[in-house]
Amino acid sequence: METTAAFAGLSCVDCEETFDAETATHRCPDCDGILDPAYDYDAIDLTPADLERRDGDSMWRYAELLPFPRSAAVSLGEGATPLVECPALADAMGVGRVLLKDEGANPTGTFKDRGQSVAMTAAREHGASDVALNSAGNAGQAAAAYAARAELDAHVFLPSRAGFTQKAMTEVHGAELTVTDPVGGNSQISDAGAAYTAAMQDHPEWYSTKTFVTPYRHEGKKTMALELLEALDWEAPDAVVYPTGGGVGLVGMHKAAREARELGWADELIPMYAAQAAGCAPVVDAYEAGADRHEPLDDDAIDTACNGIAIPDPGASHLILEAIRESDGGAVATTDHEILDAAIEVARSEGLEVGATCAAAVSGAFALAESGEFDADDTVVLLNTGAGNKDVDSLRAHLGEREAMERDGSVA
Ligand SMILES: Cc1ncc(COP(=O)(O)O)c(C=O)c1O
Ligand SMILES: [Zn+2]
Repeated sequence: METTAAFAGLSCVDCEETFDAETATHRCPDCDGILDPAYDYDAIDLTPADLERRDGDSMWRYAELLPFPRSAAVSLGEGATPLVECPALADAMGVGRVLLKDEGANPTGTFKDRGQSVAMTAAREHGASDVALNSAGNAGQAAAAYAARAELDAHVFLPSRAGFTQKAMTEVHGAELTVTDPVGGNSQISDAGAAYTAAMQDHPEWYSTKTFVTPYRHEGKKTMALELLEALDWEAPDAVVYPTGGGVGLVGMHKAAREARELGWADELIPMYAAQAAGCAPVVDAYEAGADRHEPLDDDAIDTACNGIAIPDPGASHLILEAIRESDGGAVATTDHEILDAAIEVARSEGLEVGATCAAAVSGAFALAESGEFDADDTVVLLNTGAGNKDVDSLRAHLGEREAMERDGSVA
């Protein structure tokens, strides 16, 4: 297996045992906990000055801080996404600066590409022939794309509620798609998870690239924070507001902020804020209750149109909550109405397209601003995890509802 110089293997976040990445491939062999790539930071031969001389072509420009070198990467040019100034939003929120990190610019239109790029690299390094996962939609599409690139067969399990684009493109990339309860149903990610688990029992040779089953998805997503910090001259912003489902991106970004501090590149951690939909907010509930882990919600209790964050049982909630607390961030839930309104406001006031799920970060930031969380000179970063055109149906439907309400004179 080709790995980078400082990569020191996998460390279990639960029992703290360390494992050789050649033999340990997924969850902890001892306790089934989450494995996390570990590094010998003294062996990292990279400085911010080196980075300045490098191309901003993809997230693999940070390869020294990833487990695999660029030469081994399964890459479609993911990362290196724009950080766009949003003066109208800054004005409306009463803060110094609002910046939007636009992950819609990734090859399959979401930040999921970063995670699948590293996970698919690991799959190929481990000699896999097939990869499998269940997902809310975007990760399935990304996995199909990266598997195609790596010449692996992909098996993707999605709930019926996943978007048409995600289902269609999964098949266009040549993956085998299973949609749970496809005819008129409204199945959830847990249904897709059950179908995936059953298939994995029949095919133990399939290599999983599922959230926090592979140790490499949060590792890929940590590059979002490296790009952000580098763009801000290694000065942490006052807040990153992040639409949180399984928390892969939030946990990954927090890890990168810790690493940047450990390496002496940045002085402060990035305050991480988890934004969820009020109709599925297990992390916000746990945060407000002062708990270390979430209470799983029943599928019947899920009441949000935001697919990517309709995650009732986020298995890594302890890591999300730890990241929020350690970084002095927070957690906020807003209603679907507020979320979809926020997507439309961004599209109209800034010209930027944010996905329905992603707009939870925008409405969440507005709610935080209203509650007095931010100062007038703060820099607030909104993580737009995916392109607006992935969710056109929910956005257009909301616009239609708003227009009908305005016509009736009920609500403006
Ligand atoms: C667009 C979008 N944003 C956010 C999320 C939540 O991701 P995470 O697991 O990093 O919390 C998803 C997951 O499906 C998504 O598709
Ligand atoms: Zn363990």
